Amino acid sequence: MIKYYEKSKAKCQELKHKDSILILGIESSCDETSVAIVKNGREILTNIIASQIDIHKKFGGVVPEVASRNHILAIDKVFKKVLETAGKNINEIDAVAITYGAGLMGALLVGVNFAKALAYSLDIPCIAVSHVEGHISANYLTHKNLRPPFICLMVSGGHTAILKVNNYISHTLLGSTVDDAAGEAFDKVARVLGLSYPGGVQIDNLAKFGKPNIKFTKHNALKDSLNFSFSGIKTAVINYVNSKKMKNEDFVKEDICASFQKIIVDDISNKAVKACKLQNLNKLVVAGGVGANSYLKENLTKLCKDNNIELYFPDLKLCTDNAAMIASSGYFNLMAGKNIADLSLTAKPTVSL
Ligand code: KG4
Ligand code: ZN
Repeated sequence: MIKYYEKSKAKCQELKHKDSILILGIESSCDETSVAIVKNGREILTNIIASQIDIHKKFGGVVPEVASRNHILAIDKVFKKVLETAGKNINEIDAVAITYGAGLMGALLVGVNFAKALAYSLDIPCIAVSHVEGHISANYLTHKNLRPPFICLMVSGGHTAILKVNNYISHTLLGSTVDDAAGEAFDKVARVLGLSYPGGVQIDNLAKFGKPNIKFTKHNALKDSLNFSFSGIKTAVINYVNSKKMKNEDFVKEDICASFQKIIVDDISNKAVKACKLQNLNKLVVAGGVGANSYLKENLTKLCKDNNIELYFPDLKLCTDNAAMIASSGYFNLMAGKNIADLSLTAKPTVSL
């Protein structure tokens, strides 16, 4: 009997010669249960996202155990709905792509086990996808002609980094955060201001009505590198709010949001442009949830225009977690014969960038 893994490798070779490849992507790394079908890595047939945000809102953030349980309740329904919406029979799917990490262990395991069982029962390959690479691929779905190499500004709730994307399946890390991720800092500051989870979008909205007139002390030690630190600014905001509260003084949330957001966004924008210059690449691609930030878009658009850099953002709905980006990354891995999973595939809470 030929082992499943050997058969998968052989099938991936055969698929390389097929004109139309349908990949079913699955994403369950945090608080979104998502399943999608993508054709040839670029065309979304269906992308359904069952969000748990309303469930976690009352806790002020994602509760890992609650997230796992809700993935279990949702995954089969979302999977069936995706096939129905795409008008596809399960036997038309060529491969399954699954986020194996980074993320919450229990949440990831729900998707990984579902994907393995599905792929094994259908006798089709299962491709293990890194969540970070998935976020980059959201841009291949949005911009049909986008091709590597380029510089990627990865700004999500779990990662903040500048990458040189060499080709569809490999990248080089140029810089990253030494403490919090940008999205994490947004969410923590939002919590201090009493804004509901997830806080990034709330800060974005309030900042539009405020002035960036508060001088929060900025961490300067990393200013000449491509690395980031956001925990200092986060603490400065927390101290500012607490001292105002203790003195019974009023504070303007809108101004705090505008000031905090400007410091973070200016820093990540400047370093992303600097990376393009250092690497002599005039293409900048933004990836991850903070890519939905309106001031980031406005600021980078101006900076890139001034510096002759082509700028790419994913569609707003593809900035945050979704399975279409995982299916797209799965396609490029499959074409390269990379990350074809064995049945021993398991979830990984951290994945090196
Ligand atoms: O990429 P993502 O969905 O999750 C991870 O892979 O970590 O990103 C979620 C993060 C959250 O921290 C959320 O607050 C942030 O993206 N976010 C925003 C905005 N929309 C989402 N941050 C700033 N401005 C936004 N408009
Ligand atoms: Zn994500």
